[in-house]
Amino acid sequence: MNVIRNHNLIDDNTLAVNCVCHQYATINSLSDLEALPKKIKITEMLVMGAGSNFLFTQDLPRFVAHIKPRKYITQVDNLVVAWAGTVWHDLVMWATERGLGGIENLALIPGLVGAAPFQNIGAYGVEIKDVLVWVEVYNWQTGHYHRLSNQECLFSYRHSIFKYHEQPWIISRVALDLRKDREININYKPLADYFSQSNKPPTYANIAEAVTAIRQSKLPDPRILSNAGSFFKNPIISDQQIRRIQRRYKDLPLYPTDKENEFKTSAAWLLEQCGFKGYREGDAGFYDKHALVLVNYGRASGKELLKLAVQAKKTVKNKFGVMLDEEVRVM
Ligand code: EPU
Repeated sequence: MNVIRNHNLIDDNTLAVNCVCHQYATINSLSDLEALPKKIKITEMLVMGAGSNFLFTQDLPRFVAHIKPRKYITQVDNLVVAWAGTVWHDLVMWATERGLGGIENLALIPGLVGAAPFQNIGAYGVEIKDVLVWVEVYNWQTGHYHRLSNQECLFSYRHSIFKYHEQPWIISRVALDLRKDREININYKPLADYFSQSNKPPTYANIAEAVTAIRQSKLPDPRILSNAGSFFKNPIISDQQIRRIQRRYKDLPLYPTDKENEFKTSAAWLLEQCGFKGYREGDAGFYDKHALVLVNYGRASGKELLKLAVQAKKTVKNKFGVMLDEEVRVM
């Protein structure tokens, strides 16, 4: 294993900020995983995939294990099993090309397969937890692999056991139950509108194509404009908070949750009401077509981006009494 010292992660994170890590190694296969030094402590390791969900605000005194994109997908006992380094969107295309349904609504989500369970990726009414059967992890301290079932992953909105409890684990493979007869979900308004205006039937492949078109119309491509997708989670608010906000803002967007007296609202809407859509301070800003996307327009540092994010959080808190929580991992 080739370990590089003092590697700059600027080309490895989609917000394109400077961040020098202490040690760095690339992982292309299981044998690379198995070659990782067993002595590394949990707090000293950082596992990175496509780097599309990080904001680095300082140099990292850590060992970065960087999983490199490499497509490896097989079918085992009717399950689709993908190597963690497979590009997520390639897996979506692989499935829809074979007429397998379940992840078509998650087309074009940036990142690698191994990162998908970590934050339970979701879009257009579907989350990976809906089709995930097991996650295989490699324990770099013991050198053993083991599997976690869907239940053991403790999934919830943008959350999983991988975020709750830090363990010496690296996700190595993911198994999904994708089928030819999975029910489609085009309830989400932009998708429903797309198919009501199109003469194409909502097959899995056409849904993936629709999602791709919708995402491309409002989310910036990180290869062209540096960003990390949704910067904040959509906050859950109580009916008491809702009544207070609705006295002045009748059009507050609300989506049901599992609990009767709690609703999810739109972080993008809250930010837009506070004037952050398209707002810039130097090279740090919020995207002009979607207020939830923090953008590095040039050479903003991680600290400058964080300063703007903190300012946005404070403004939303003061105006609406709602605390935004980062979806992106701030380090
Ligand atoms: N809206 C605004 N201003 C904006 C953008 C949106 O007011 O600038 C309002 C609109 O009312 C819109 C509502 O926000 O109806 C929801 O917007 P959108 O459909 O774009 O979805 P979102 O809630 O902002 C979530 C996920 C996205 C996912 C989309 C589609 C979170 C934090 N984000 O965004 O996920 O693609 O739904 O399902 O849950 C990501 O996690 O990185 C991500 C992009």
